[in-house]
Amino acid sequence: MKTKLWLAGMAVGLGLALGTVPAAEKKTEKKPKAWSAKMRELEAALGDVLFDISSDARFDDKKNFKKIEADAVRFAKLAHSVGDETSTAPDHDQGLGMVGSDFAQEADQAVKTLKAGHRAYARVILGTMTNYCVACHTRTNTGPSFNALKIDSRIEKLPALAKGSTLAAIREFDRALAEFERIVGDGTKMEGDVYDYERALRYGLSIAVRVKRDPDVALRLVEAAMKNAKAPYYLKAQAADWKKSIAEWKAEKPAAGGDAEKLLAEGARLVEKARSVQKFPADRSADIYYLRASGVVHEVLGLGPKGETAAKALYLAGLSYDVLYDYGVRDFGEFYYRACIRTTPHTNLARECYRRYEESVYFGYTGSGGTYIPSDVRARLNALELLSVPEPDPKASPAELR
Ligand code: HEC
Repeated sequence: MKTKLWLAGMAVGLGLALGTVPAAEKKTEKKPKAWSAKMRELEAALGDVLFDISSDARFDDKKNFKKIEADAVRFAKLAHSVGDETSTAPDHDQGLGMVGSDFAQEADQAVKTLKAGHRAYARVILGTMTNYCVACHTRTNTGPSFNALKIDSRIEKLPALAKGSTLAAIREFDRALAEFERIVGDGTKMEGDVYDYERALRYGLSIAVRVKRDPDVALRLVEAAMKNAKAPYYLKAQAADWKKSIAEWKAEKPAAGGDAEKLLAEGARLVEKARSVQKFPADRSADIYYLRASGVVHEVLGLGPKGETAAKALYLAGLSYDVLYDYGVRDFGEFYYRACIRTTPHTNLARECYRRYEESVYFGYTGSGGTYIPSDVRARLNALELLSVPEPDPKASPAELR
């Protein structure tokens, strides 16, 4: 069960150096220079890494080994400067820390693997790096979106899914969407395998629903999948359900941005709706509701709320990622439950977060041989359980305490 997330399957075999200078359309003002500058460096380093792994000939030529290793080391260093310092991000979502630390660890793993001489595997890991950029960037609608007049020609030549995810990684959201739409609608051949097809559809929906907040764009993607004779049946069946929830969305007024309480109420409403639509806990037919919910909940978390408001948002994020396990990073739901317990310990809400957390951990460590919980995980469970137990009411009579 505890497989290294969906990212691991995504070797995006590609090539490019992303030195584009985009004409920015800033959506948010006032962000610390340092974060922006780090992101730009990361973009440049990613370009070098992706170019290094772009062709067998380049990657396997001994003459390039030193340079490839140096590029990977530089990338991993930058990944650390991002991953270890997400508190300096203009967005206060605690989930950034989780994605950031996974990102840094995985970049280290790539370097270690490369240095150990397992080059083919290192290449696969390096190819998944864009997924971390996308996991952070497509959570919600804050942050800049670019629309450069011209994109590096090497990006244009990438295989479709790699191209789309690289464009999303550098926040060229319109171009990324166009790419995902093209893959989803292409009925002449299945681009890559079914896994790639589903990734393209899900990436596209993440941008349409959470970044763009545009039901028409989501509808275009979903209808393209429904019409595509080559699309797998299970996805088409889900798409038909998604279409219904998008129609409902179109008839609604958007929740006011910037007001944490209103956004939180909207998130709670959407999660409730999602749960009423699902036929069983792992059912994906309510994904549009969950995506919408997670989009507004990330917006709330980005505002850096405290106390109960924060804990409620963290709880809703946990509920959303229990289902949307393939958006974000591995065990994202569990991360948010833990954060919820620590934010408002000894409350009913903390207890509820603990309950969901425990269930998820047990489920994750259950296989055909039964349930086996490693001792460190067990210790953390115990500590969080203690932290979640509501304080006894000092006014309660001794009988009630028993
Ligand atoms: C831990 C989360 C996280 C990861 C991982 C991440 N980013 Fe970002 N990035 C952000 C956030 C948050 C912003 C937007 C900040 C804001 O609100 O302006 C951003 C902004 C950017 C920007 C715009 C900078 C500007 O000019 O303002 C670029 C370019 C960028 N990221 C590239 C990348 C690339 C490429 C990767 C992967 C190699 C990456 N990022 C990985 C969180 C992340």
